[in-house]
Amino acid sequence: MQRWLLDLLVCPECRDARGLTLAGTGEAAVEDGELGCPGCGAAYPIRNGIPRFVPQQDDYAGNFGFQWNRWKTLQVDRLAGHRLSQTRFFADSRLPPEWLPGRLILDAGCGAGRFTDVAAQAGARVVAVDLSEAIDACRVNCANPQGHTPGRGEVAQVQANLLRLPFRDGVFDGLFCMGVIQHTPDPAAVMSALPRLLKAGAPLAYNFYEWHWLRRLEVIKYGLRRTTPDWPQGTLLGFCRVLVALLFPLTLVLAKIPKLRFFVRFIPIAAVHNPALTLRQQYDWTLLDTFDWYGPRYEQCQDHGQVAGLLQGLDLAEVDSRPGLAWARRPG
Ligand SMILES: C[S@@+](CC[C@H](N)C(=O)[O-])C[C@H]1O[C@@H](n2cnc3c(N)ncnc32)[C@H](O)[C@@H]1O
Ligand SMILES: [Zn+2]
Repeated sequence: MQRWLLDLLVCPECRDARGLTLAGTGEAAVEDGELGCPGCGAAYPIRNGIPRFVPQQDDYAGNFGFQWNRWKTLQVDRLAGHRLSQTRFFADSRLPPEWLPGRLILDAGCGAGRFTDVAAQAGARVVAVDLSEAIDACRVNCANPQGHTPGRGEVAQVQANLLRLPFRDGVFDGLFCMGVIQHTPDPAAVMSALPRLLKAGAPLAYNFYEWHWLRRLEVIKYGLRRTTPDWPQGTLLGFCRVLVALLFPLTLVLAKIPKLRFFVRFIPIAAVHNPALTLRQQYDWTLLDTFDWYGPRYEQCQDHGQVAGLLQGLDLAEVDSRPGLAWARRPG
């Protein structure tokens, strides 16, 4: 754990203003140690350089931990040789690349860190948080020096729950939360919990699953999902492998026929046909995304009009909500 992170931390239980004490050796960073709370006496371990604010066995996000360690580098532009995460990051976050250098940014639910890495490459200092062991994959990916740009910002990882984050209020220059909110038990609670961490005037970007009636027709996917999150991970992986081996070629054919393209969405795999990827990468992304369909315990949809109302109710400024995306600023 980088020592600079200590200035941002408070106990998630009692939020004692004195912060946390750090025990462990290492000049700039502590690999193994412990954080202690002078207020309530709670202790939080630092393992593998990452402070951990959740029990070792995470509650509902275990399949994410498996998934992001299994396909660690696939979506990290710098390590996989594409720019898809970068393109999506700047479009969805609306954080201008020229604004990022030196800013302190929170990646809320980082997974293997594909967006953390893009922000760091642009010069931001990023704190990446995840509930699951995906946080370890994020650390490996972001430490990997291959393709680091000059002026790259530092990255610190924290394993914690977005609903009980161990940070002081008003410390971040910006935050983004992508691909996460729909996979939590209470999306509105997550959206409501994060803004207080921002400085006055700081921006936030949320992405979420938009409710659409067509989802009702995806009966095979949602029928299977009734049980798949509970399957042993090896069984689920084998199941996804078979589905993708059988159905990916079919989706390729259908996608080439304009009149039939629409029906690809009813085939129960998450087909990725992006021409910026090699065919092998498309296949691997499809397998990863199919596991990401069947693994999560929660998949919750929201309506962007209601999301706008929620953010306005939190007294945020410049609220803008589109299907699946919302932006706002902390007032001031
Ligand atoms: C689909 S992944 C997206 C990861 C990354 N943002 C991306 O787009 O590649 C969702 C991530 O959210 C994390 N997550 C889910 N609920 C969380 C919570 N309450 N607190 C922190 N992280 C959470 C999961 O562990 C998982 O890594
Ligand atoms: Zn405490």
